[in-house]
Amino acid sequence: MNIVVGVTGGIAAYKAVNVIRGLVLAGHDVHVVATDAALRFVGKPTLEAISRNIVHTDLYEGVAEVRHVAIGQAADLIVIAPATANTIAKLATGLADDLLGNTVLASRAPVVIAPAMHTEMWQHPATVHNIGVLRSRGVTVVGPAVGQLTGADSGPGRLEEPDEIVRAALAVLEPKDLVGRRILVSAGGTREALDPVRYLGNRSSGKQGLALALAAVARGAEVTLVGANLEVQTPASMRVVHVGSTLELAAAVQAAAPDVDVVIMAAAVADYRPESVAEAKIKKEIAGDRLTLELVKNPDILAGLAETRAPGQIIVGFAAETEQDREALLALGRAKIARKGSDLLVLNRVGWTEGFGTDGNTVVVLDRRGDIVMEASGSKQTVADRILDAVVARFA
Ligand code: PMT
Repeated sequence: MNIVVGVTGGIAAYKAVNVIRGLVLAGHDVHVVATDAALRFVGKPTLEAISRNIVHTDLYEGVAEVRHVAIGQAADLIVIAPATANTIAKLATGLADDLLGNTVLASRAPVVIAPAMHTEMWQHPATVHNIGVLRSRGVTVVGPAVGQLTGADSGPGRLEEPDEIVRAALAVLEPKDLVGRRILVSAGGTREALDPVRYLGNRSSGKQGLALALAAVARGAEVTLVGANLEVQTPASMRVVHVGSTLELAAAVQAAAPDVDVVIMAAAVADYRPESVAEAKIKKEIAGDRLTLELVKNPDILAGLAETRAPGQIIVGFAAETEQDREALLALGRAKIARKGSDLLVLNRVGWTEGFGTDGNTVVVLDRRGDIVMEASGSKQTVADRILDAVVARFA
């Protein structure tokens, strides 16, 4: 995609470099339009090196090729980060006294802005009004975050983190094929308490489940995320229920499931829990050289959901297996979907360096007959989108 990144003159302009980098690494052709003020905060060579394209600033450059409209006309998406109070006011009014203003007016592409300014400016009635005007025109506003500002002060006005700006910007380009759908995703790893300070757990970070939840939001779904001990931050764009143990996860999932169209069980769920939880810390002086734990089976949440699902509801399970041989791995996946009764099963290989906690994943999606309906490899975001493609195909 051709993405124009507008950089305007605030101290947060240095963070625009990471926004540009994120968009380039996601495979997009990025063209930077920087205001004169922006170039007082960040150097043109930096923006050119990171964007891998010439940076445009001057309204009167490239007149022969009608650059003041050509950049906007060619854009698939315009992202302005940071967007100062001044730029926001100009956009709201439709001013075109610089190249960025002309670019936005000459474009039919969706616009995403990431405001950054001091709290007083962000909360000023003029800015509040201007943001309202832009929102009513369909502009996506990302942030600002609440936190440390340039000086000693802190509050709302800090530029949203570059990764989040990239994610929100790319979400605008997603197909909106899940509008009106409600989706429940479980993520993370359950922990089974042994005593007040120890637990049996697993290494799930919640990255794959969160990627699914974010992708579903981007495609228009209303999402509930049941997160077990997540190591990742959750955004405000979804309802999040935090849980700890398998029984807590089961209760949260079972409470939410009747109201949704799709359940995706990406959480790594403990099959067993200690039969009893010690009231006080287990002492080695008392336990001695060997400690035997008696474990009892946890309920199979996925199998239960599949058994009681409403007509038309789609249940998606995961299978985490360490098997190295592809055919043997597929056989385990086929046996698992037959046992659990889900509509789809996302089979991924896990190990010391695979699946758990990593940024990437490789999956095979099976249907109830055991047929492969999709295979995907890449970032957990990419994989999440492909899994949702398989879900959307089932709706069709
Ligand atoms: O969180 P990340 O670090 O990003 O890692 C992602 C992941 C590897 C955890 C994820 O991709 C994944 O594989 N999740 C499922 C892990 C798992 O519990 O797999 P399983 O094969 O043990 O269980 C099969 C299915 O039954 C899963 O959908 C699981 O949620 C569900 N289950 C398991 C046990 C149980 N008692 N109740 C269940 O519902």
